[in-house]
Amino acid sequence: MTETLESIAEAMVAPGKGILAADESSGTIKKRFDTINLESTESNRRDYREMLFRTEEAMKNHISGVILYDETIRQKAKDGTPLVDLIKQAGSIPGIKVDAGAKAMAGFPGELVTEGLDGLRERLAEYYDLGARFAKWRAVIDIADGIPTMGCIEANAEALARYAALCQEQKIVPIVEPEVLMDGAHTADRCFEVTEATLRTVFARLAAHRVKLEGTILKPNMVVSGKKCSTQASVQEVAEKTITVFKRTVPAAVPGIVFLSGGQSDEDATAHLNAMNAIGGLPWKLSFSYGRALQAAPLKAWSGKAENVAAAQRAFLHRARMNGLAALGQWKAELEKAA
Ligand code: 13P
Repeated sequence: MTETLESIAEAMVAPGKGILAADESSGTIKKRFDTINLESTESNRRDYREMLFRTEEAMKNHISGVILYDETIRQKAKDGTPLVDLIKQAGSIPGIKVDAGAKAMAGFPGELVTEGLDGLRERLAEYYDLGARFAKWRAVIDIADGIPTMGCIEANAEALARYAALCQEQKIVPIVEPEVLMDGAHTADRCFEVTEATLRTVFARLAAHRVKLEGTILKPNMVVSGKKCSTQASVQEVAEKTITVFKRTVPAAVPGIVFLSGGQSDEDATAHLNAMNAIGGLPWKLSFSYGRALQAAPLKAWSGKAENVAAAQRAFLHRARMNGLAALGQWKAELEKAA
């Protein structure tokens, strides 16, 4: 079959499958390794990711694609096999994070704008040659007193659209990730408002930049209460509010929406996704592109020790399976306890 943007995007959201976000930057993976008292060396990062990519049952059955970091897409497993080949052998698609991080936005105190457009065309061409068939760019929208501003939302949406257009020119499917953070004390209704404004702006800019929606995947936050908010929306409320926002703002031509976990507990991330798919009747596939919600359990089980590899792989398989079921609306809380 000839590979097209549409066929790649469809494969990324194949039924019962989702994406493993393993694209932690050097700074972020160090923070993760700090939690298990492990030094962040090149070989430790390789061993950790090799362990995940060699979890065959998880990768084959539940992981449609893996987002990699620049170092990882060039790394080889201990036996010399490129990590990209491990992913492909499992029938999964390699992807790459291409943004250069969210930086303080000049003139907009407390807000961030994501950098990385300069030279992006050439970097995408190289990543394509290294095997990447999709990419990711994350914009960060924070909620606090007086923010976000429309200036911040617009600057980030414009950058996302320019990134997405360049990806498609290079035959790479863009994952468009505008993340409204859940760190604050705001209510779920405030998250709803900000998510709605953000997605409206993002899709307007994607249209202005002639981005083909059929070859685009959206990676949004869910509509949740801020972590420090005293009242927390229920699973059903999160599912209903999130779907309501998407129906207003995400065109039906988008083949799939894959959520970030953003600091939700493993089980919340699964339960929310499941509740949305249980509602059903949606024009887009709804699945996952989790980092922490897929990796927290295996990272802890591994703790940097070779003798824990099998236990860590079991933990990864379990979360991948639970989220695969949630992508079908077939997850049940009892399945967590059974494991
Ligand atoms: P989390 O699921 O840990 O939020 O990570 C997903 C991701 O790729 C953020 O850019």
